[in-house]
Amino acid sequence: MKKLSVLGGNANPELTREICQVLGIKQTEVLVGRFSEGEIRVHIKENIRGQDVFIVQPTCPPVNDNLMELLIMIDAARRASADRITAVIPYFGYARQDRKDQPRVPITAKLVANLIVAAGVNRVLTMDLHASQLQGFFDIPVDHLYAINVLAEHIKERKIPDLVVVSPDVGGIKMARAYAKRLNAILAIVDKRRMSPEKTEVMHILGDVKNKNVVMIDDIIATGGSLIDAVRALKSFGARDIIACASHGVLSGPARERIASCDGLTEVVVTNSIPLQGPGPSVKIKQMSIAPLLAEAITRTHKSESISSLFEEIRN
Ligand code: R5P
Repeated sequence: MKKLSVLGGNANPELTREICQVLGIKQTEVLVGRFSEGEIRVHIKENIRGQDVFIVQPTCPPVNDNLMELLIMIDAARRASADRITAVIPYFGYARQDRKDQPRVPITAKLVANLIVAAGVNRVLTMDLHASQLQGFFDIPVDHLYAINVLAEHIKERKIPDLVVVSPDVGGIKMARAYAKRLNAILAIVDKRRMSPEKTEVMHILGDVKNKNVVMIDDIIATGGSLIDAVRALKSFGARDIIACASHGVLSGPARERIASCDGLTEVVVTNSIPLQGPGPSVKIKQMSIAPLLAEAITRTHKSESISSLFEEIRN
């Protein structure tokens, strides 16, 4: 079997380190720095010729830097004669512009997928894409994992009574339904309209949340605007405690302040697909590790074993 090699850039070094720890291997040494004018400088310090190489790099903020680092690391690995290169992108940025919903706008998700493939990657391993169809934007194999095992287990341990799982928008119903099934809870949906990239408006709540404890499931918390609006609406419909779970804690701009000052919200649970960064309080924010999930997927990919059992529940 080809040797397994795992390396990463500056996007989430702690996650790369944890994955290697779970795998019980030494991280492949790579320099990912900057030249004096700011250009990215990559040097893989070990021989990876003929190896099965996994490059861990979520394209989280600073998204342009992290994306460019990923592309350059792929290029370096390809030119170093790696046998196979898998980009491990637990958070795939630029994903929300995935269709032409107005005149004269780009489809950045497709553009970024094209760039990653053009750089020379053979496979992509990702998690909770903003929309599952984004897999089809890559003309190479994509393994799409879900954080449900990690997040739902955390909620299950709480043994929360009178639980309702809420999807904060219609697009998230499938995911919320899988959580509801796993948590043996009922389902409700927030009917949200997006007025602009920063502003949403809640129209209705579909389902019964009165006197219920709520777990709200979303893929991304960015500015926290959607979350806070949904919490307010749920409270006005009589919900009790509200916990929010999101696969990706982008937590940009005012997100942390908003979360800290939102009375109805007791906890926000995210994964470590993105490092908790930036200023602002994080008292209510809990981060769960996806390193064991990614390590398992890497092992199975390396051994050419099926990884479908890692995402069966959502697909059904
Ligand atoms: C929307 O479709 C997504 O699922 C998230 O709800 C949204 O991207 C979160 O963004 P923000 O936190 O800025 O409202």
